[in-house]
Amino acid sequence: MLVPERGGAVVPVTVVLCVNGERHEFEIDPLERLADVLRDRIGLVGTKVGCGEGACGACAVLLDGRAVASCLLAVGSAAGHRIETIEGLSRDGLTPLQEAFIAADALQCGFCTPGQIVAATGLLRAEPAPTRAAVRQAMSGNICRCGCYPKIEQAILSCSGGDG
Ligand code: FES
Ligand code: FES
Repeated sequence: MLVPERGGAVVPVTVVLCVNGERHEFEIDPLERLADVLRDRIGLVGTKVGCGEGACGACAVLLDGRAVASCLLAVGSAAGHRIETIEGLSRDGLTPLQEAFIAADALQCGFCTPGQIVAATGLLRAEPAPTRAAVRQAMSGNICRCGCYPKIEQAILSCSGGDG
């Protein structure tokens, strides 16, 4: 996307986002990070920012159903796409996957958990019965500094139709 400039200054453009089924319109620098817009302008702070470099998965959101790192995505690039955050997933109460995380004790500090849930939701929507190997592969971009990996894997597999 072209960024209009006058004398080197970024000129805000109108960006319309569809987040959790709701329309949000901003006059904004289209290169602002989606993660920051979600957190600071819309107030959806369930999306965490850890590394800010696409390496930890804490900022995962679903873009047209696919998990992406919102810290790497310019808000202008997200316009016209369907964005789902952890708040949208649990709008009607905890999802079975969230319940499974609790049942499996798959979190400690919880910082990574929204990103884990978002990524796993994207996986299970695309592949309802993943193998254990497929779960590991799909979740490989989500870091848990508390080391809850075995329990996270167990929680996801308990919600899948796969044989593990
Ligand atoms: S904060 Fe986006 S991947 Fe780490
Ligand atoms: S539960 Fe603490 S980083 Fe994952």
